[in-house]
Amino acid sequence: MTEFPLTLNPEPKAPPPDASLKFGTVFTDHMFVMNYAAGRGWFDPRIEPYHALALDPATCVLHYAQAVFDGLKAFRGADGKIRLFRPDRHAARLNRSCARLCIPALDPALVERSFRALVGVDQRWVPKLPGTALYIRPTVIATEPFLGVRPSESYLYYVILSPVGAYYPEGINPVKILATGEHVRALPGGLGAAKTAANYAASLYPAEEAHRLGFTQVLYLDGAEHRFLEEVGTMNIMLKIGEEVITPPLGGSILAGITRESVLALLGDWGIKVVERPISIEEVVAAIAAGTLTEMWGTGTAAVISPVGELGYKEKRYVIRNGGIGTLTQRLYDAIVGIQYGTAPDPRGWAKPLALPEPALA
Ligand code: COI
Repeated sequence: MTEFPLTLNPEPKAPPPDASLKFGTVFTDHMFVMNYAAGRGWFDPRIEPYHALALDPATCVLHYAQAVFDGLKAFRGADGKIRLFRPDRHAARLNRSCARLCIPALDPALVERSFRALVGVDQRWVPKLPGTALYIRPTVIATEPFLGVRPSESYLYYVILSPVGAYYPEGINPVKILATGEHVRALPGGLGAAKTAANYAASLYPAEEAHRLGFTQVLYLDGAEHRFLEEVGTMNIMLKIGEEVITPPLGGSILAGITRESVLALLGDWGIKVVERPISIEEVVAAIAAGTLTEMWGTGTAAVISPVGELGYKEKRYVIRNGGIGTLTQRLYDAIVGIQYGTAPDPRGWAKPLALPEPALA
């Protein structure tokens, strides 16, 4: 039933009702695991019952955060078919993240197969309700018990699955974001372009401050001049000003979002002008005041397309489009979600059917 050795979970759980799903709180019955040892390479890919990891307290990932991850989703379409959204792009990005953290490369084809095999085993966990999905979280951690600061000589690659609903409690409703230059997410040459655990650790403190002020997320500005928009940490950012869509360029400090690149491709198909250029917070505030900035949204795997209804900056709050969803934002949401659930044309073949034999494992 799978190309990898499989140990079935003797105590499978009942998946929770789709309508109760939040983000990342529930996990399925199995996980994919593979080890690495210096001189041996990656070995023993396998699927096991979901289990806790036992780590020596000296394990270097616990001290120096040599860890990367990625995140993608499997969707159950109205036709009952399960589709993975651009798993090849996620496998490629995982390897780019590994390279930045001196983690030995994984075979991208094997990574993609690990997603398929695990989702296949746990396919009864792919929820049905529109807006829900099975989130796939591949992770690589350094496992050598060693306190010197150098790359580990052993690693663990694992994949876990979580049935999810909307990432933000707002769902598709507009979120409030706070632009800040006080805290920096990343600088060019740093870790910002890689999906490392450390980037998210760095985002916790500013995010807590933003929450206290009533914002959902932080919009980071560049680390040098504290003026140019970077990203939101859980999503890339896009703005419609006049007839143009503007998004910050991937300058080495921003994560290359797969939803970001998908949206840019769709906008191109629709004949909408897209400009990847640095855009300052002053320009954004001036465009809101002039009424030329009509839509602002974030893109991300977890966040999908998330309209921004309010922007905070320097004690002021700017309401965008009366706090509602823009026409283009809604069109993008519908197009991406349509491809993911198999209800809209997918000329580029982004949504890859799982194509596993039925019936599903009960
Ligand atoms: C994602 O969109 O997959 C993310 O990684 C954002 C967050 C959940 C870490």
